[in-house]
Amino acid sequence: MASPRVARPLIGDHPSMRKVLRVVDRVGPTDSSVLILGESGTGKELVAQALHAASDRAARPLVPINCGAIPAQLLESELFGHVKGAFTGASQSRPGRFELADGGTVFLDEVAEMSPALQVKLLRVLQERCFEPVGSDRSVSVDVRVVAATNRDLEVEIEAGRFREDLYYRLNVVELQLPPLRGRASDVPKLAAFFNERNGTHRRRAVAGFSDEAMAALVAYGWPGNVRELENVVERLTVFCADELVELEDLPAKIVRPRMPKANLPLDLPDDGVDLRAVLQALEERLILQALQRTAWNKNQAAHLLGLNRTTLVEKLKKRGLLQPHASA
Ligand SMILES: Nc1ncnc2c1ncn2[C@@H]1O[C@H](COP(=O)(O)OP(=O)(O)OP(=O)(O)O)[C@@H](O)[C@H]1O
Ligand SMILES: [Mg+2]
Repeated sequence: MASPRVARPLIGDHPSMRKVLRVVDRVGPTDSSVLILGESGTGKELVAQALHAASDRAARPLVPINCGAIPAQLLESELFGHVKGAFTGASQSRPGRFELADGGTVFLDEVAEMSPALQVKLLRVLQERCFEPVGSDRSVSVDVRVVAATNRDLEVEIEAGRFREDLYYRLNVVELQLPPLRGRASDVPKLAAFFNERNGTHRRRAVAGFSDEAMAALVAYGWPGNVRELENVVERLTVFCADELVELEDLPAKIVRPRMPKANLPLDLPDDGVDLRAVLQALEERLILQALQRTAWNKNQAAHLLGLNRTTLVEKLKKRGLLQPHASA
């Protein structure tokens, strides 16, 4: 837990990801608190590691703690430690994570799950860099940088009275919003290649590559589980298609059949004829959606793929009420 670690690379060329990487480069070396926001699986922990690795504290520990995974009554002693006899079962004094991280970084994962009482204590650590272990009246001073993460909307939590606004401002001196993978679908091929290569190195199993259709389906899929889901899919493929080219039918069914409007699109005139207008409309809608998904809803690029100008595309979207999905898991 407390050993210096080698930073893992953050893959991504999409402008939204480049922006994240620029902020990591700029903020990493400072002591500023950083609040990392983003859906599950978007890379919040990876970014926390990158921030730590880019700082002067890199040789000191990065100590993570998942505030949502530890029962509330234990969290305080996990964070701040306790003295012998502080509570039943406390047979010895034990340092908390803040003390273990001295000189380094504490990563408070799922920070929104922290109880109001603990939020007050955390606020004090952020303001005064000191705290009292459970059962002690002696203050401990530490030199830690705090990086926090959550996949909740903290403004909603504040509004609902579950998260302290003053703590929010202390934590988000710098705020990093990680984009969902469906918003940067152009990064999918690079990420897939990266995970495949890594599986080849670590597990000696890799696929030979992806057919164009398979890759197009991966790019078009919505990825509710974000990068973690892609990582899992690639790992499964390296087991089932080791050394082979991944074809469309090798992919999980939910990826092969993205949620497109059901269209029965005949290429030949059926015996009982067709509703030409409905068919053409369905075909148009389908191709528009594919172009939008492939370009992560970049309307300029999508219009280009369709040989339309942007205005025409936007008009069509309005007319059909097509909106960018914000689907989540
Ligand atoms: N940009 C990226 N480049 C390479 N790997 C990534 C990237 N983003 C995420 N990953 C990988 O995806 C997985 C999920 O990332 P991570 O655990 O950092 O997400 P998270 O946002 O903390 O998710 P959760 O909210 O569920 O805790 C990890 O294995 C991580 O290494
Ligand atoms: Mg995480």
